[in-house]
Amino acid sequence: MSPDSKPESKPAFKGLSTSQLRPGFPDFLDLPWHLPLLQWEGHCARLEALPRGESRHPVVFVAYGPVTFALKAMAPGQAEHEYLLLKAMAERGLPVVTAVGHAVVETDEGEASVLITRYLEHSLPYHSLFLQSSLSRYREHLLDALAGLLVQLHLSHVYWGDCSLFNTLFLRDAGTLQAYLVDAETSQVLSSLGPGLRQADLDLMEENVAGGLLDLVAMGALPADFPAFDLAADIRRRYDGLWSEVSRVDHLRADERFKITERVRALNALGFSVGEVSLTRSDGELDRLELRVAVTDRSFHRRLLHSLTGLEVQEQQALQMVNEVNELRADLGREKHRSVSLSAAAYAWLEERYKPTVKALAAIQTEVEPAELYCQLLEHKWYLSEAAQRDVGLEAALTSFLTNHGVAPATV
Ligand SMILES: Nc1ncnc2c1ncn2[C@@H]1O[C@H](COP(=O)(O)OP(=O)(O)OP(=O)(O)O)[C@@H](O)[C@H]1O
Ligand SMILES: [Mg+2]
Repeated sequence: MSPDSKPESKPAFKGLSTSQLRPGFPDFLDLPWHLPLLQWEGHCARLEALPRGESRHPVVFVAYGPVTFALKAMAPGQAEHEYLLLKAMAERGLPVVTAVGHAVVETDEGEASVLITRYLEHSLPYHSLFLQSSLSRYREHLLDALAGLLVQLHLSHVYWGDCSLFNTLFLRDAGTLQAYLVDAETSQVLSSLGPGLRQADLDLMEENVAGGLLDLVAMGALPADFPAFDLAADIRRRYDGLWSEVSRVDHLRADERFKITERVRALNALGFSVGEVSLTRSDGELDRLELRVAVTDRSFHRRLLHSLTGLEVQEQQALQMVNEVNELRADLGREKHRSVSLSAAAYAWLEERYKPTVKALAAIQTEVEPAELYCQLLEHKWYLSEAAQRDVGLEAALTSFLTNHGVAPATV
C-alpha cells in the first residue's frame, strides 16, 4: 500500500451475509447475527442453556418450537468445510449430528462462519454419565459405543482425526449406548482407509479418552486411582475385536455354503448390514473358498423396523422391538393356524402393543425418551417373568412398572 492510499474501508454491514440451509428447517434470519455468539445472551430469546462438552469454538443452542439447533462459530470457510463433511458422513449412514447449514456472518469482531447442526435430542455428554449416579449403569457401555463408532467410521473409509469423549455424544440404546460423532472438523472422508490412518485414529482416541477421564479425576468425580489409561486401552481392544469380526476372511469348503448364511447372520446380530458377500476360490485348491463380506452400516435392525413400522429408534432398541414383532408373528400364526406375514405382525405390534404402551408410559415424569422407556419396560417384564418362571405378559409388567414409577396403574 502506498503511504497516501486510503486504508480499505470496512463494510458497514453487520449481520448475516450468506447462508446455505437444507430445506425443512427455519431460515434463522431472526437471530442477532451482528453479534458474536457469546454476546447473544440478553439479545436472543431463543437461546437454550443445555449441557455441552468443552470446545475451542463458541457454541450456543437455539430453539425453534420443539426443535433445538447447535450453532458453532468458526474461522471463515471452516463451517462450510465441516458442513460438507457431516453431510458426506450422513450419506454413508454414519451416526453423526445432522448438518442443517452454514452461514457467513460479519460482526464487530470481523468475519466468521457458523455451522448449524440439529441438537441431538436426549444426548448425554460423557461427563454426565460419570457425574449423575442414575446413569452409572450406562458407563461400561461407553467403551463399546466408542469402539463401535470408530469401527463404523473406518468401515466407511472415514478418518476422524480427533476422536475424544468431548467430540462424542451418547444416546441411550436399550440399556446400552450408541455413540454419535459431533465434531468433524478434522475428519477426512476418503475412498479407502489404510491401516496407518486407522492406527493414528486409535492412538489419538487412547490419548484423548485418557485425558478426558483424567479431567474427571481432577474434578473429583472419579477416584484418584481411576485406571484412565487402562480404560482407553480397553476401547482399542474392543475395537480390534469388532474390526476382526467384520473384516476377517473365512475359509470354507464348497459343501459348507451354510457358513455364508451363518456369517451374515452373525454380522446382522451385531447390527451390521451386509452389502455384498464375495467368494474366491483359494489358490490351487479347487475345493476351498475364501469368504469376504462387505459391511455397509450398523443399522440392520433400525432399517428393518423403520421399513416395517416407520419408527425411528436406535439399533439395540430396534433389535428388541424386531424380536417382539417376531414373537408376535409366531403367536398370531398359532392363533390363526396359518402363517402371518412379517408386515402384518409388525402392524399389529405397532397398533396394539407399542402405541398404547407408549401412551400409558407418558404418565411417567422422566427425561428418558419413549423408545428407551419402552425397552426398560421390556427389561422389567423379563425380570418379573424370570422371578415368576413364566411369561407375566406386557400388561402385568406395565402395571408394575408404572407403580414403581409412582404412577397409578393403567391398562394397555
Ligand atoms: N448438534 C449438537 N447436539 C448436541 N450437542 C452439540 C451439538 N453440536 C455441538 N454440541 C456440543 O457442543 C460441544 C462442542 O462442539 P464441538 O466439539 O463441535 O466444538 P469444537 O470447538 O470444534 O471442539 P474442539 O475443541 O474439539 O475442536 C460438543 O462437545 C457438544 O457437547
Ligand atoms: Mg470438539
